[in-house]
Amino acid sequence: MSAPEALAFDMYGTLVDPIRIWKRLEQYLPDEALHIAEVWRQKQLEYTFRLTVMEKYEDFEQVTRKALDYALAAAGRELEADQKDALMDQYNDLERFADVEEGLRRLKEGGYQMVVFSNGAPRMLEALMDGAELRPYFEEYVSVDEVRVYKPSPKVYQHVAERLGRPIREVRLVSSNPFDDIGAEAAGMWAAWVDRSGGLFDTLGSPPEIVVGTLTELADALEVRRG
Ligand code: 2OP
Repeated sequence: MSAPEALAFDMYGTLVDPIRIWKRLEQYLPDEALHIAEVWRQKQLEYTFRLTVMEKYEDFEQVTRKALDYALAAAGRELEADQKDALMDQYNDLERFADVEEGLRRLKEGGYQMVVFSNGAPRMLEALMDGAELRPYFEEYVSVDEVRVYKPSPKVYQHVAERLGRPIREVRLVSSNPFDDIGAEAAGMWAAWVDRSGGLFDTLGSPPEIVVGTLTELADALEVRRG
């Protein structure tokens, strides 16, 4: 391989921390916020999987809003329209994890071609690129909205490799989401699992050859590999 591999970074839970959404939800529903937030995230991803299997598409903003409506109804709770709008706005105002700046700086210095690669709708990613101060480290972002199919369809991993101008075997997905890591490897891409929560890896597959807790550890691991 001439240049080092290209790196495609997942956004939610990998580069930016969703905690602010939970905090905002706690303001409205103090005793059920965490449970509702968990149902909201699970339903959001479930809807993306189901839309993809049905060969239908609605963008991540619409899917996220519908998943919020489900999570509230499932808890038997209601929020005012402006409260739900505020929660959706919070999705576009998340902070990067503490290790992201140093990790991305080191990887950029290491000469890696890097992009953000996410289910997020372009408008959502645009907001985070500025709000979470990510723009200095990335050539650009790639939203699955460009192919109207969600992760983990192989089409999205093939698309990001094309957008990078690299064979898929020269791209490494960096994601905290096991479904994403497994999907990338199934499509012939490398992967690195950023295990930020000390959680379990899905038993549908085995963890990638690189498992790290932070992006600085990722920079270390890749440096070791380059020798
Ligand atoms: C992403 O950013 C859904 O977190 C996943 O694509």
